[in-house]
Amino acid sequence: MKFGWPKIFSNFSRDLAIDLGTANSLVYLKGKGIIFSEPSVVAVNQKTGKILAVGREAERMVGRTPSHIVADYPLVDGVISDFEATEQMLKYFIEKVYEGKFILGPRIRIVVGVPCGITEVEKKAVIDAAKNAGASEVYLIEEPMAAAIGARLTVQDAGGNFVVDIGGGTCEVVVISLGGIVISKSLKNAGNKFDSDIINYCQNEYKLLIGKRTAERAKIGIGSAMPLNTKIEKRDMPIRGRNLVSGLPEEIVLTEEDVRKAMEKSVRQIVDAIKEVIEQTPPELVADIMNKGIHLSGGGALLRGLDSLVARETKMPVKIIDDPLTAVARGAGIVLENLDKLKEVLLDTDTLEPPK
Ligand SMILES: Nc1ncnc2c1ncn2[C@@H]1O[C@H](COP(=O)(O)OP(=O)(O)OP(=O)(O)O)[C@@H](O)[C@H]1O
Ligand SMILES: [Mg+2]
Repeated sequence: MKFGWPKIFSNFSRDLAIDLGTANSLVYLKGKGIIFSEPSVVAVNQKTGKILAVGREAERMVGRTPSHIVADYPLVDGVISDFEATEQMLKYFIEKVYEGKFILGPRIRIVVGVPCGITEVEKKAVIDAAKNAGASEVYLIEEPMAAAIGARLTVQDAGGNFVVDIGGGTCEVVVISLGGIVISKSLKNAGNKFDSDIINYCQNEYKLLIGKRTAERAKIGIGSAMPLNTKIEKRDMPIRGRNLVSGLPEEIVLTEEDVRKAMEKSVRQIVDAIKEVIEQTPPELVADIMNKGIHLSGGGALLRGLDSLVARETKMPVKIIDDPLTAVARGAGIVLENLDKLKEVLLDTDTLEPPK
């Protein structure tokens, strides 16, 4: 009889791909696909150091905690700002995957999506966090590269692919060819910045203090990057906050135009970054991109009218990647399923790990 892991173990894959995002983290289990998606939030009791909640449950606590409990996003602008909380979050994800299953057997391999231009120190922080959380091998992939693979673009060919990933913390504009990133530009100007623009606008125009989640609701509900079809009825949204003068609760009606104006400068900066990258792109690749178009991924790609604005400003076709919020996780998952064939698209981490 051939010895092997009992079927109950061998059927259960242990390898994961994780999109560790500033706003949302997604986990892909090898052979299964994306198994969950949760906000990247950790709530900690500072008196005891105990983790109280992670993900959706912790998100509900943001801005609502007593002073000894801190519910916060451990990643800022796409990179780890609170190492311990990130590690705890990864542990929680891994445990959730293996919930109720007896863990025994071979090594756990994890592919993690990280921002472009991540420093060596930041790379090491992600690898250490994943290893402390239970991984035995950790591979890193740049998020826009993963998004491109998730969109099934032919990243290993010599043709240029243009991807703009607009997440919560970062906007990354890249040109990909021959399995590598040829040009990239990163801005710390994405979904979270749009939210803070709306908060500032309400404060300045209406003397109303609103919370981050209210601002995000307004952005998703009535936000746009350019005026939309005027035949459609103008949209507005009642929002509640505290009047800064009277100190009392107040409700105002925010219009679509208000929200657009609030975010205008930040949206402009993203468009300018895209134009800058086009200017730096070698002509042969520009010709390819004119055919294939600019691909938008990340939650920010869903901002109404952004695709039309980018198309108008760049004179290039623009496509929103199908299901842009999951593109990075799906792409990292494809890499995990085909590690041998796709190893070249991974970030080099050899210098970070001691020889085995
Ligand atoms: N329909 C929508 N319109 C506009 N913005 C949206 C929409 N849906 C989600 N978003 C925004 O997308 C952002 C989250 O996107 P995503 O999950 O891609 O970010 P992330 O991967 O966590 O962040 P990062 O890549 O910067 O680390 C949030 O700011 C969210 O408000
Ligand atoms: Mg992202």
